[in-house]
Amino acid sequence: MSDAARIEGIKSERGDRLAILGHHYQSDEVLAHTDITGDSLELARRIEGLEAEHIVFCGVWFMAETAAILRRPEQRIHIPAPDASCPMADMAVSRSVEKALEILSRSGKKIIPLTYVNSSAGVKAVVGRWEGSVCTSANAKRMLEWAMERGDAVLFLPDRHLAVNTADALGIPEEQRHILNESVIEEDPSLYVSPDEVEGKKLLIWPGCCPIHEEFTLDTMLEIRDREPEAKIVVHPECTPDVTREADADGSTSFIIKYVAEAPAGSTIYVATEANLVERLAERHKGEKIIRPLTVQRCEDMGKTTEARLAAKLSELDTAEPVDVAEEVREPARKALERMLKACA
Ligand code: 13P
Ligand code: SF4
Repeated sequence: MSDAARIEGIKSERGDRLAILGHHYQSDEVLAHTDITGDSLELARRIEGLEAEHIVFCGVWFMAETAAILRRPEQRIHIPAPDASCPMADMAVSRSVEKALEILSRSGKKIIPLTYVNSSAGVKAVVGRWEGSVCTSANAKRMLEWAMERGDAVLFLPDRHLAVNTADALGIPEEQRHILNESVIEEDPSLYVSPDEVEGKKLLIWPGCCPIHEEFTLDTMLEIRDREPEAKIVVHPECTPDVTREADADGSTSFIIKYVAEAPAGSTIYVATEANLVERLAERHKGEKIIRPLTVQRCEDMGKTTEARLAAKLSELDTAEPVDVAEEVREPARKALERMLKACA
């Protein structure tokens, strides 16, 4: 029996007791079996309303962990590719974030942390304990405003590009922003962070980034502008600020899907995000619009979920160890996420 047939067989056997969720960067062969496909915000929002006893998450680890933080006690979260991490999320370690917050707070200023959802449960827990919250690429502007209303300065983490792009969108002056020393990613922040860094700043920025989105360059965009002045360029806000500033539009994966769908027939659109999504959009709009990748960038971790691994996970639902989060982490991490869900209801 093929993997596809095994998956569909288990799905019809389990009915509503099973829900398969998938991120837009998953391959077509995986998304063919998902009940819900979405960007990070949409997927997080759907967890609480799900009746299913088993929730299988096709994406990277932090997404399954977010589901495990938000799940009801009787629900079990599974991930077909537990080795799929997000390199950006790995750039912020919870004890370093906590240490940096302690040092920055010695300035006497109230620092509110705001973590991108691409972060570990441990980081979300630290943020929750420090009265902060979470954002996704779909609500970063709203959540940065939320955080700024609650303190003297915000520590935005881990994505420095999303932080700067959001600050640009909100008109936060450059002199009020400050990016922490890159060494805090690997080393003890006590060596690199000082309370003086808060002086005159409203936005402190953790120096992480997405290695996939960082590959898109302004030079490629300028060549396209030169060669095809009519073409539009839409980018994900994890791209560098020079790329994002030059784009016609930027937004979450769901925003990009909508932007492409709403573009007039005959448009040519270059898209700067993960290749699976760009290829799907090109296929979906074939013959009507020309959709091209700015350059082809693949997230290896997103690609770790395959139809075979999904089939294997579905066949061990009752015996597999579910993804879970220790209670002392879950409680504050949940608070951080709930603040976001409430602010963006
Ligand atoms: P979205 O929230 O826009 O779906 O993005 C998640 C992600 O990991 C982008 O690299
Ligand atoms: Fe992480 Fe970048 Fe992959 Fe998204 S595309 S999961 S941010 S590494």
